[in-house]
Amino acid sequence: MPTDYQTFEHDVIVIGAGGAGLRAAIEASAAGVSVGLVCKSLLGKAHTVMAEGGIAAALANVDERDNWKVHFADTMRGGQYVNNWRMAQLHAQEAPARVRELEAWGAVFDRTADGRILQRNFGGHKYPRLAHVGDRTGLELIRTLQDHGVHRGISVYMERTVVRLLKDGDRIAGALAYDRERGRFTVFRAKALVLACGGVGKAFKITSNSWEYTGDGHTLAYDAGAELIDMEFVQFHPTGMVWPPSVRGILVTEGVRGEGGVLRNSNGDRFMFGDIPDNYKPQTAKDEEEGFRYVLGDKDANRPPELLTRDHVARCIVREVREGRGSPHGGVFLELQTFAQWFGKRKRGFDAAEHWKKKLPSMYHQFKELGGLDITKEPMEVGPTTHYVMGGVRVDSDTQMSRIPGLFACGECAAGINGANRLGGNSLSDLLVLGKRAGEFAARYAKETAAGQVHADQVDAAGRWALEPFERAGDENPFKVQQDLQDMMQDLVGIVRREDEMLRALEGLEQLKRRSARCKVPGNREYNPGWHTAMDLHSLLTVSEGITRAALVRKESRGAQFRDDFPNKDTANFGKVNTITSRGPDGRMQVRLEPVPPMPGELKDAIAAEAGGKLPEELK
Ligand code: FUM
Repeated sequence: MPTDYQTFEHDVIVIGAGGAGLRAAIEASAAGVSVGLVCKSLLGKAHTVMAEGGIAAALANVDERDNWKVHFADTMRGGQYVNNWRMAQLHAQEAPARVRELEAWGAVFDRTADGRILQRNFGGHKYPRLAHVGDRTGLELIRTLQDHGVHRGISVYMERTVVRLLKDGDRIAGALAYDRERGRFTVFRAKALVLACGGVGKAFKITSNSWEYTGDGHTLAYDAGAELIDMEFVQFHPTGMVWPPSVRGILVTEGVRGEGGVLRNSNGDRFMFGDIPDNYKPQTAKDEEEGFRYVLGDKDANRPPELLTRDHVARCIVREVREGRGSPHGGVFLELQTFAQWFGKRKRGFDAAEHWKKKLPSMYHQFKELGGLDITKEPMEVGPTTHYVMGGVRVDSDTQMSRIPGLFACGECAAGINGANRLGGNSLSDLLVLGKRAGEFAARYAKETAAGQVHADQVDAAGRWALEPFERAGDENPFKVQQDLQDMMQDLVGIVRREDEMLRALEGLEQLKRRSARCKVPGNREYNPGWHTAMDLHSLLTVSEGITRAALVRKESRGAQFRDDFPNKDTANFGKVNTITSRGPDGRMQVRLEPVPPMPGELKDAIAAEAGGKLPEELK
């Protein structure tokens, strides 16, 4: 029977309404084309809000030494030089303008004494660079973009999940979605389509991501013939809640450490002092006092070791736990009290509780309400949580278009800018800068191109695929298959990886694929989460396979990928290459290595200037 569906037609369709999708939609609409914004959940409910601590942009409001070249060099060092340098350059150059634009659109920021946007320290950023409002920056960004966007007349389609992209020959022609409430199908016809669907966190057991983040953008692009890049690099944010179990994984912002929070093990030791990589030594605290002065803005002080990059801090926490120095519930302690006592002795009338409630209001409420803990008085228990994927759809650095004509991607589901590890705060600036570019170039493409045909056979095939779980004779429960996948990825392809375990994971994925093909869902198409999960399994399994295969190919440790069996960087073989994942002619996933494009001399100079005049091996 042919699939029954409604049709909506726009010049540009944006899939995903987090910060990247909203910014792309605003830009496309400003270019004068008709824009439809499709989101899996409700408008405003996006992982963007989990970037709590700030937007990285070299505004130089707090330290006048900052500029785009330092931001660029920090981003490249954080990504261990396998980043797309052009994206990192555009990002560092354009982020200040995007933040000021957001301010002009009404975003609220904390302020310096003379009224400029206040900036705070974050891991891997040389200077205080994160424009913020308390620990609710992502929320404010979304609120501002939404307010701005709705007044532009963008058509919003909420609670619609896209299951397949539709093509006319090589180029994009639209997408098929179902709506959560009634289970009806919609075809969105478009000349250009922007994927901004976020990440893959739900492929892992412990994650800061909510239910929507099942790798949909990555999978839609891959299924349509696009390439994915650097899928092995999954970011485990060092600090998520570990207790109580029901809230395990919820983010504890890096802003806590940026404001003076310190990490301790069960012996009370600040274990990060013992693990400072050589390339960070010049800027890392020699003692406690130095780090606290740095937090307060002393330009000559060295930074505290808690502000090393996320990959490094997460691995140190895992080591403390594995070696028996963890907290009671399997994390470590993150506490504000040491800084408060130190500061209290220097500032007459300092009220620690008021100070933290103002600086970290969400953290205060989160722990009070979810954990029954007053963070102004007691240490938090924290541990790594799957937060972000650096890998994603391979796109052109200037236009954000994939290799499929008319298909663009931005935000977390696109890749390149962050290399092997993203610096905190760079996601919000990335989505503003590259989201804007995606919208601009999608609109330009739509203006220059006639609409493609939507082919009925593709719509029917996608509709039949979506409805299969109702018809099957199998006995598998989709929720159980999803849970088993998450457990396996956490155990075998998590923070510490080994070849034998990842090969077991690949076998496990084949079994899970077979089980997923036997998932049978009861009930009907009206609001049926079992059915939705049965469909999400396809994306979850695709991205899990992509992560595992790419991690196997990169036989070294770099950034977010730590291989127990190859614990060092192997710059000669892997320091100048990206992994590229695509569907091979036999229909199977394949991963190949491709050289990182050579970097222009002036950018190399910017990096060398920040590395004591020495060029990193990767760039020689
Ligand atoms: O820790 C945080 O506030 C997260 C920020 C980010 O992921 O950029």
